[in-house]
Amino acid sequence: CGIVGYVGGQSALDVVIAGLKRLEYRGYDSAGVAVLADGGLAADKKAGKLANLEKALADHPLPTGHTGIGHTRWATHGGPTDANAHPHLDNAGRVAVVHNGIIENFAALRAELSERGHTLVSETDTEVVTHLLAEQFSQVPDLAEAMRQVCRRLDGAFTLVAVHADAPDVVVGARRNSPLVVGVGDGENFLASDVAAFIAHTREAVELGQDQVVELRREGVTVTDFDGNPAEVREYHVDWDASAAEKGGYDYFMLKEIAEQPKAVADTLLGRIDASGRLTLDEVRIPEPALREIDKIVIVACGTAFHAGMIAKYAIEHWTRVPCEVELASEFRYRDPILDPRTLVVAISQSGETMDTLMALRHAREQGSKVLAICNTNGSTIPRESDAVLYTHAGPEVAVASTKAFLTQLVACYLVALYLGQVRGTKWGDEIYAVIRELSDISKQVEQVLDTMEPVRELARSLKDKNTVLFLGRHVGYPVALEGALKLKELAYMHAEGFAAGELKHGPIALIEEDLPVVVVVPSPRGRSVLHDKIVSNIQEIRARGARTIVIAEEGDQTVVPYADHLISIPATPTLLQPLVATVPLQVFACELATARGNEVDQPRNLAKSVTVE
Ligand code: G6P
Repeated sequence: CGIVGYVGGQSALDVVIAGLKRLEYRGYDSAGVAVLADGGLAADKKAGKLANLEKALADHPLPTGHTGIGHTRWATHGGPTDANAHPHLDNAGRVAVVHNGIIENFAALRAELSERGHTLVSETDTEVVTHLLAEQFSQVPDLAEAMRQVCRRLDGAFTLVAVHADAPDVVVGARRNSPLVVGVGDGENFLASDVAAFIAHTREAVELGQDQVVELRREGVTVTDFDGNPAEVREYHVDWDASAAEKGGYDYFMLKEIAEQPKAVADTLLGRIDASGRLTLDEVRIPEPALREIDKIVIVACGTAFHAGMIAKYAIEHWTRVPCEVELASEFRYRDPILDPRTLVVAISQSGETMDTLMALRHAREQGSKVLAICNTNGSTIPRESDAVLYTHAGPEVAVASTKAFLTQLVACYLVALYLGQVRGTKWGDEIYAVIRELSDISKQVEQVLDTMEPVRELARSLKDKNTVLFLGRHVGYPVALEGALKLKELAYMHAEGFAAGELKHGPIALIEEDLPVVVVVPSPRGRSVLHDKIVSNIQEIRARGARTIVIAEEGDQTVVPYADHLISIPATPTLLQPLVATVPLQVFACELATARGNEVDQPRNLAKSVTVE
């Protein structure tokens, strides 16, 4: 969910709505606002996208006020209806609360409130907080103190932001696990789930820590812990500007973000390779002796980041000879994984807020393991709670389906693998330096792929009425196949599956029927040529059974030509780096198919970009 709060000289409603627009990627099941005006509180909320709320507000304008809050929702408790939308008001309509996260003990609190005569009207856990807050405030008319008392009673993960008609010019926020950032302006202050919401007004931000309550007034910001003790906070300057989060002439953010990939890749490499061709990852604050001691690496991530992790495993094991496991973050801690101080856990996350990944890394640190985060969002929770962080420099990614963040996650994973190889010294020393050279130039190849995508778009349009597309790959082509299938599910809502090409004959080949589109990612014929020859056989096997083959192969690879109904050429790269170029056509393919099917590219149904619940 996305949350905004504002107090200052401008119209709170305008600031809050503009902020919500920038946070809509966090959820778009419903949206709502509340403003303090004329001694009272005015609110409106609507199911569906923010546009529905904007229309309602145009028909029935709210009075102008200078203190307000807003919310854009990804539904957890209760369906996406008007009643379940945030903000939630108390029975007297004096207090309004917006919330991101889950209050785990809400049922007990709800029962307790009902016994005391409160009438709860929605199915949400948030409404419980509203009533508790109203009750506390009636005893201690200090909204921040009331919020602290309420927070002490809540279990679970939450960000809460509230206003009270009897506390004009005050917004309070509370944070446990879910993100909340303060924007510090001149005579005005902001609260939001992410800096994007206020970047048009100020670039000075304050990061809130775990279990903190913030009181926002025009003239200043006060942060305490849940017991009221002053809290230490970190102030920082946001170094990207508002235009980085604009569409910049593209129809969709996703198209812009796909196009930005060469730059994103180059930026992620910037300053990390020295003049002698060695890696200098100063940010990895884990001392070299400790890195030499590591005897196991575990990667945890979700969604697209998980696919980056799968590719990283091939690179890490090859270049470092350290065993590496990759695990879905949501599964990790519940199976009591074997971890100790010699295990390095790598947590990959674009947002830095994914709750599954956060919980996995906390579990790892509790067991004494070191955690290295690979993250795209400065100041987010995952890097803050890790021992070290390697930032990807993709810039803000707004489209829900991840593209440029994925490519930069791959770059960061290669850097980690090569760096560990460099630090530990392996028999692949020469290869490591050769690959670093190739990597430093790879953004040109990504650019080259982007320049040749028109036939891919045309092919995508021609497949718009298909129901299923399969994806095959071997070695690092296998996670690429999984990512290609995920993109298609997310964007085109088509049945899409990725398989290890060698596994197909053990079952999934039964799915092949006449004219079924199958995308095959073919490794380079150079280098590990056995792999190449094996996959050429796999292509023949599916073609013999009627599949329509869409083959992604290195330019000049003539062996695949006779078996490819459609051939997509990509530049030659070292085998392990191929995902950086092979994934791009799959992103373009999915985006174009989604458009052809009339789907919303940037905001696919049911999804949210940053999922801050487990
Ligand atoms: C959500 C998004 C996915 C993303 C995943 C992990 O489910 O819809 O696109 O890959 O979260 O996100 P993270 O921010 O941790 O990389």
